[in-house]
Amino acid sequence: MDKENFRQFGYKFVDWAADYLTDVAEFPVKSQLKPGEIRSQLPANPPQQGESMERIFEDFKEIILPGMTHWQHPSWFAYFPANNSPPSVLAELLTASLGAQCMIWQTSPAAAELEEVVLEWLRKMLGLPEGMAGVIQDTASTATLCALLTAREKTTSFESNRKGLKEPLIVYASDEAHSSVEKGVKIAGFGKENLRYIPVDEAFALIPSKLEEAVIEDKERGLQPCCVIATLGTTSSTAIDPIESIGRICSEHGLWFHVDAAFSGTAAILPEKKSMLAGAEHIDSFVFNPHKWMFTNFDCSAYFVKDPGTLIRTFEIHPEYLKTGLDAQVKNFRDWGIQLGRRFRALKLWFVIRFYGVEGLQKMVREHIRLAQMIKKWVEEQENFELMAPVSASLVCFRLNDGRSEEDLNELNRRLLESLNQTGKVFFTHTTLRGKYVLRMVVAQRTTEESQVRAAWELIVSKAKELLKSS
Ligand SMILES: Cc1ncc(COP(=O)(O)O)c(C=O)c1O
Repeated sequence: MDKENFRQFGYKFVDWAADYLTDVAEFPVKSQLKPGEIRSQLPANPPQQGESMERIFEDFKEIILPGMTHWQHPSWFAYFPANNSPPSVLAELLTASLGAQCMIWQTSPAAAELEEVVLEWLRKMLGLPEGMAGVIQDTASTATLCALLTAREKTTSFESNRKGLKEPLIVYASDEAHSSVEKGVKIAGFGKENLRYIPVDEAFALIPSKLEEAVIEDKERGLQPCCVIATLGTTSSTAIDPIESIGRICSEHGLWFHVDAAFSGTAAILPEKKSMLAGAEHIDSFVFNPHKWMFTNFDCSAYFVKDPGTLIRTFEIHPEYLKTGLDAQVKNFRDWGIQLGRRFRALKLWFVIRFYGVEGLQKMVREHIRLAQMIKKWVEEQENFELMAPVSASLVCFRLNDGRSEEDLNELNRRLLESLNQTGKVFFTHTTLRGKYVLRMVVAQRTTEESQVRAAWELIVSKAKELLKSS
């Protein structure tokens, strides 16, 4: 592809992207296709000769696009947000054009130093303790795995890196912790049986006294407690674990304290939400995802540690071919995590923070929280609806409840979810809370406004009425 050709299609694609980002509401939110429908339209073998960009782009629009679920849709209320924004998308274009491999300082000094600066901005925006140092990981799952590995090494004085794990180490997290905790525990060699799930209270937050009991019990059994993982904004209901009390227990018992704030962490940029970080001085490692609720397209996970030395000692490698004369003076982020090769992800974060400014970001996040509170009120006021969890940020958990048996209610709400998603106008997902089937309404998409939220609620109420009439 020559320069003029590139320019021609570049303009075309940017035109397409500009239209997509503003008109995405015209698509059904959730792809309506059946399994195999896309695959059946694609050739089994790669083309022997190159094809024209016109043809490839046409196929993108005709074959690929109908098979997409549109996460940027303003009526996206499912799972969690994975929002992007125009400045972030444009920065990605620059990142891809630069095509830099940012594994060490020398392979792109700007990438390493920008990452350092932007993560320090983020630390200040959230109000994490001074001195915590940040690095971008691909996902929160990876960050949590890094925390577990670092905790393992610290507890064993770096012996497990040398000799392998010799005795069981115990990890603690609440019943509501994300599945990445279990995955990390398995990958890091702790063993699933050494993960203790601690019960939660009526707000689905970890009960500190139960944590302490479990730690003491393990110590009495001669086991070695190692790491506690608390969640700020659990996946099912965005419950907030009490950082201060959990942190005190960790400090007292010498345990690594990791906080997973993947989704809700962004809320801490608001002065009125800073209280969720009370006790942050106890935190050893902390992750939140700008790729969820901070308008920075996937992937971009911000990981902060109190003691970078322990992190680096866990991961560092010194093959001859990566040594430079500058290693003592600079940050080589290859030693701050699992992967060697690193994308230039700080660029899009820098664009987003500069373009919106802290106040602009706060305004968007605050609006989502306002909308969630509005839905909460509607749920509480609507006959036959029940709020199923406190609304800590931008997620509302609710169900239809006309007093039938729990088993029948689960089925009723399953049908409600299905009927809503079949419309293609909205996309909701579910969870279970204490065995009860619950609909989740996440309001955190950059493009979501009050009008879409009102329309979605009207749809919920009308589908619920139809269901109740017919069953
Ligand atoms: C609390 C929490 N932790 C971790 C994750 C996993 O995030 P990632 O996809 O960045 O690994 C999620 C995703 O929903 C989450 O809600």
